[in-house]
Amino acid sequence: MACVKADAYGHGAIPCAKTLSPWVDAFAVAHVEEAENLREAGIEQPILVLEGPFDVADAQKIEELALWTAVHSEHQLPWLVEHLTPATSNVWLKLDTGMHRLGIGAEALPVVWSQLTEAGFQDTVLMTHLAFAEQGDSALTQYQKSQWRAALEALPSPTASALNSAAIVGELPMSGDWVRPGYMLYGGQSCTHPVTDLRPVMTLSSEIMAIRHIPQGDSVGYGGRWIAPRPSHIATVPVGYGDGYPRHATNGAPVWVDGYECPLVGRVSMDMVTVDITDHPNATIGSAVELWGEHISIDRLAQAADTIGYTLMTQISSRPARRWIDH
Ligand SMILES: Cc1ncc(COP(=O)(O)O)c(C=O)c1O
Repeated sequence: MACVKADAYGHGAIPCAKTLSPWVDAFAVAHVEEAENLREAGIEQPILVLEGPFDVADAQKIEELALWTAVHSEHQLPWLVEHLTPATSNVWLKLDTGMHRLGIGAEALPVVWSQLTEAGFQDTVLMTHLAFAEQGDSALTQYQKSQWRAALEALPSPTASALNSAAIVGELPMSGDWVRPGYMLYGGQSCTHPVTDLRPVMTLSSEIMAIRHIPQGDSVGYGGRWIAPRPSHIATVPVGYGDGYPRHATNGAPVWVDGYECPLVGRVSMDMVTVDITDHPNATIGSAVELWGEHISIDRLAQAADTIGYTLMTQISSRPARRWIDH
């Protein structure tokens, strides 16, 4: 099941779903509106709404668009019972195994399971989500695993789903029939041990628009944050936080300039960044710049900006021109 929520992590839900369609059995989104957009674009495969209905109107849409739905709380049950046709519905019951964000508690599981069965919902899928899958041996993950195991044993062998990207990559031994990768589909490395054959899907690229030659001791950018330790060549690139480049990227964050890695220097502006190209004398106006992509991993840049690659992907603004390239 491919997670294409949040506009396919900023990549464009419709083109991504169309591309992924031959390879996956189903899609996952967070909200009904996201599923509706995919249906309108002609996506016919099952689409799971991970947060389930927020109200009666959502439940009606789930029925009308033949969506699959999660149920994370007892308050959603009456909406399903009243507005969904059990025989043609596919319900995923979310169990809170320890993340304490969404899901019913283990103590309520048998009752809610019976309520669904009695209402005619068959083949309910049991799902959970891990809070710290990046650390398979953490106490929290171990606890969630034990809760999960107990829940599966308490029910008559339900279809089950627990694993996100980090859990898949880390090969967490948690039984389940469906996996729900998101970040890894887009080439993101959510684990401490990188998987080498994941390739980045998104490239943020630009070109040098201006070059300044500055003496040693002069500063660059807002607040004069970076001071040239030697006479320096500074390239200005027309990408800034208004495009989704992280404003908190530090001096030294990697930028790929025409085949060389160069350090970002000075504060990120709304529309521009500045890069030290002193050691790259061939760089000139118009030279190609990659902010992230094949050469500059989004996870590495995220680290240099004290964030995670997920936020960089999803926060690309509407300003950069987008091109979707089939490989
Ligand atoms: C319930 C659920 N399943 C799967 C995923 C996919 O996670 P990831 O992108 O880390 O693979 C998410 C993402 O937040 C989620 O909330």
